[in-house]
Amino acid sequence: MTPIHETIINKRTTNTPIWLMRQAGRYLPEFREIRKANPNFISLCLNEHLSSEITLQPLKRFELDAAIIFSDILMLPYGLNQNVEFKKDFGPQLGPLNVDSMSKIDEIDFVEKVYPVYKSIKKVRENKLVKNKNVIGFVGAPWTLLVYMINKRSPKKELIKNFFKNAFLINRTLMIIEKFLKLHINEQIKNGATVIQIFDSWAGLLEEKDLPDYVYIPTLNLVDYVKSLNIPVICFPRGIKNYKNYCDIVKPDAVNIDYNVNPITICREIDIPVQGGLDPKVLLTDTENLKKQTLKYLKIFKDHPYIFNLGHGVLPETNPDMVDYLVKMVKDY
Ligand code: CP3
Repeated sequence: MTPIHETIINKRTTNTPIWLMRQAGRYLPEFREIRKANPNFISLCLNEHLSSEITLQPLKRFELDAAIIFSDILMLPYGLNQNVEFKKDFGPQLGPLNVDSMSKIDEIDFVEKVYPVYKSIKKVRENKLVKNKNVIGFVGAPWTLLVYMINKRSPKKELIKNFFKNAFLINRTLMIIEKFLKLHINEQIKNGATVIQIFDSWAGLLEEKDLPDYVYIPTLNLVDYVKSLNIPVICFPRGIKNYKNYCDIVKPDAVNIDYNVNPITICREIDIPVQGGLDPKVLLTDTENLKKQTLKYLKIFKDHPYIFNLGHGVLPETNPDMVDYLVKMVKDY
């Protein structure tokens, strides 16, 4: 069994595994080189040769326990024919949302449009660098995808006014999202993903009263679906106020925490395996501080099944030497 499966399935508390969100990305010069020659981010994600190479780049440098496939949560609206572009220093920009035509899209056409993502997973799975390691497939949670599809861009700190005004549009969009997320998850698993992570990056924007409709129920449906395929599922409801309630209701196999929650409280209140927590900004400081903060998490979760990771993705300004230091530290602990 892989170290990550040992932690999630067997609840092992020794040999803490490690991988990092955004471990393949702009902080690596070898990534920047490929990116420079490929200004269109979506096309890059749809080039299975380059996306599999990018996925493996961090594994060539560091002793990580998983490869996370180089793609994006916005490949889902892209596959559903909503225009998606990534603009420099702006982030994603989506085009008009047409639910009428979206609701008519055939599953075969969706799979064909994003097919290179699955081929890339297959290529990564077959590479010797991931022997006895996990290949992590991922999706955006229904709520976070709904936010992008309706808002058309990152909501930063708040939703657009009247976000919830058109309940009919919201419900139809959520139904389409759920149907195609299941398909997208299933194809990733069929091609070699051995863990699924569900990113709910905007869970923190909702008030408590709205969580059941937009976060708990749709995510629970997906979690149950992944479980039915016998693959562990990790959820990351970033910024959610009450991680315990979330875990009690959604019941993922493991939960990734952000850096704004107190890991001591999490460890005390939550029984399922925990992942992440370290503030990615710590990697921008010095090795002494990195060591101190890393030890803090390792000590708190000493007797709890724990996968080392960050509380959000690696920042582009990060020095790869700091990542090297972190991975070695966790491996030697
Ligand atoms: O973790 C990994 O290494 C795998 C690849 C991955 C990407 N995006 C590649 C990417 C993953 C898992 C994601 C998930 C994702 N995408 C999320 C959830 C996690 C989170 O960050 O909260 C979200 C919200 C998105 C949507 C998205 N994609 C945004 C907001 C942006 C722009 C901001 C940014 O970080 O650059 C992207 C672009 C993106 N996705 C890049 C990468 C490597 C940068 C593209 C570039 O090189 O310009």
